[in-house]
Amino acid sequence: MKKDPLIIAFCCNWCAYAAADLAGISRLQYPGSIRIIRVMCSGMVHPDMVFHALEKGADGVMIVGCHPGECHYIKGNEIALARADIIAETLEDMGWERDRFQMTHVSSSEPERLVQAFRDMHERLEALHQNTFAGVEANE
Ligand code: FES
Repeated sequence: MKKDPLIIAFCCNWCAYAAADLAGISRLQYPGSIRIIRVMCSGMVHPDMVFHALEKGADGVMIVGCHPGECHYIKGNEIALARADIIAETLEDMGWERDRFQMTHVSSSEPERLVQAFRDMHERLEALHQNTFAGVEANE
């Protein structure tokens, strides 16, 4: 049976989480194997949280924060962006594929952008390891 890649998405309360809310209201569809974790700011996602999610069975991890210059805590998303490079490099050092992690930015009024980012990540992970995920059974 086909399995969907399990994706943990740390979503900033002020932008990505609000965009996900709007996506729901707008009935936009995204893969059901995405698990959203609301955080107050992308800058509060420590790299260990990403590694921990992968070690516990997630197939991919996303951090979705406000656009540059729009962080409600001023520099949180700058901190997150600086960490993103470190996270990607560390993943490779640990033997994980870089594509298992992605940081992106959306505003609360961009549900389509968020949904597209979810779909892109989902497709990338499917291509990466077809049939090897712990994953979530797909609803087919
Ligand atoms: S408040 Fe959204 S990234 Fe900081």
